[in-house]
Amino acid sequence: MSDFLSEWYSWIKALHIIAVMAWMAGMLYLPRLYVYHAGAAVGSELSETLKVMERRLLRAIINPAMTMALILGVFLLFTPGLVDFDEIWIWIKLFCAIIGLGGMHAWLSRWRRAFAEDRNKHSAGFYRKINEIPTVFMIVIVIMVIVRPF
Ligand code: HEM
Repeated sequence: MSDFLSEWYSWIKALHIIAVMAWMAGMLYLPRLYVYHAGAAVGSELSETLKVMERRLLRAIINPAMTMALILGVFLLFTPGLVDFDEIWIWIKLFCAIIGLGGMHAWLSRWRRAFAEDRNKHSAGFYRKINEIPTVFMIVIVIMVIVRPF
């Protein structure tokens, strides 16, 4: 297995970054849809259209992209000689990616269900603030994995 990971390292990393980009695109777009949805009247044409967009974005893009980013990331973690687990950057990256973005993903799924069942309780302003959180995690993650400050 380790020979396979070393041999295909560049392909695995390239696919990891592609999956991460799709995951982030969805994580930044979905809360934006919630901003508009929070302002739409229940049962209106706009609300019903946004329900379809949110479901497709989550199920067809965000969920598969997160799964691929995670699987390929774990492959990279176990590629011989790549990551020194005594260094701190990898733990900050894993915390932000799995707890931070993974947690955000779970909440976004929960709010999508609330919109789908016409029982959203949050304002457009709330979702505007939520929209910033994935950006902050993304910035920290990319600095950690590229700069490796500690
Ligand atoms: C989900 C859990 C994740 C794991 C386990 C993981 C793990 C890894 C590992 C081990 C590497 C290889 C580092 C190397 O080449 O030396 C890597 C590369 C990279 N990861 Fe992740 N990653 C994850 C999520 C993410 C996320 C969410 C982002 C961005 C928002 C990200 C961005 C990157 C980038 C840009 C690289 C390339 C770094 C380079 O070229 O040196 N990763 N990842």
